[in-house]
Amino acid sequence: MLRVGYPATVLPELLSVLPAEVELVSISDKLDEDVEIDVWIPDPYSTRAMRAWPHLRGVKLVLAMMAGTEWIPGTVGPHVTICNAHGAHNISTAEWTLTAILASLKYFPLYFDIQNSAKWTRRFEADAHYAAITGDRRAVYPPVMQEELTGKTVLLVGYGAIGKEIERMLEPFRVELLRVARTPRTEPEVHPVKELDRLLPKAQVIILIVPSTAETRHLIDAPRLALMQQGTLLVNAARGPVVDTEALVAALEGGKIRAAVDVTDPEPLPPEHPLWHCPNLLLTPHIGGSTPEFSPRALATAAAELCRYMRGEPLRNVVQAAI
Ligand SMILES: NC(=O)c1ccc[n+]([C@@H]2O[C@H](COP(=O)([O-])OP(=O)(O)OC[C@H]3O[C@@H](n4cnc5c(N)ncnc54)[C@H](OP(=O)(O)O)[C@@H]3O)[C@@H](O)[C@H]2O)c1
Repeated sequence: MLRVGYPATVLPELLSVLPAEVELVSISDKLDEDVEIDVWIPDPYSTRAMRAWPHLRGVKLVLAMMAGTEWIPGTVGPHVTICNAHGAHNISTAEWTLTAILASLKYFPLYFDIQNSAKWTRRFEADAHYAAITGDRRAVYPPVMQEELTGKTVLLVGYGAIGKEIERMLEPFRVELLRVARTPRTEPEVHPVKELDRLLPKAQVIILIVPSTAETRHLIDAPRLALMQQGTLLVNAARGPVVDTEALVAALEGGKIRAAVDVTDPEPLPPEHPLWHCPNLLLTPHIGGSTPEFSPRALATAAAELCRYMRGEPLRNVVQAAI
């Protein structure tokens, strides 16, 4: 019988989605003896999963509960097939992205601060904030208290499962959407990443939703930040290393752009790191995939892949094929 290791942290009632013909083995990060399993569903928290790995024997297939699997190949080596939970994060991460864009353009960080100070008249700080970040210093009446997303040009860097969900959620805002991926295609038009430098200056909002790979490391660096419009909103829902953190800090401190990031480099971000205190930045501590709906969805994705594996059918979400 196929032995499938699952995270001890998962609620037992969620396991009913896995096929009945397998033997389920609870894997905690406090194992003190070796365990023989064929298939491993690692804990979504990579640090816990990495603590368990040295005690696992016989693993041929890893079914990750996450879309981002960058820590797994280096941990398990090349002789194990790895599948990700493609699609399991679409809704939560796309909703985070929309929220981050709207919260930034509606100046919610400033208004939270004003609410905490209980000073209504501080609302006029928004006008100065708008002038400083956009460079638009014309006296607008009534004073600017927030901006609009509708009609803006949005550059979506990464047009995979989550990128497409972000596009679906952006539809009511009638933005002009420019899409970028590795491979160009038509209907809808997707530009190749080599056109990024030409597209960056066109957008007022730039969304990053690509995997963390050698090619995407520092995809956004100092020269590319310099190509952005004054006051562009850069949204990183992908992974911290996709942006050169030092260059981002400099661009924020220089008042060139604003940003909303769910991911940082490094993670966890140390308390003394300058990014925490950058102006015009909305930062959440890597929460984009974590909702109550996530685990059932991720386990259902793993279960479907496991059924294909047991039937000898091709797997759908392979990110590394065993050699
Ligand atoms: N913030 C969070 O909590 C959170 C949650 C979930 C996921 N994520 C991150 O989001 C990433 C994307 O997830 P997904 O499910 O949408 O992945 P996906 O379906 O595999 O799509 C990835 C997209 O990135 C593009 N891409 C890959 N390498 C590229 C490069 N060098 N330059 C330009 N584009 C490139 C791909 O291009 P092609 O279409 O041409 O292949 C594809 O469009 C994950 O890998 C993960 O790191 C973050």
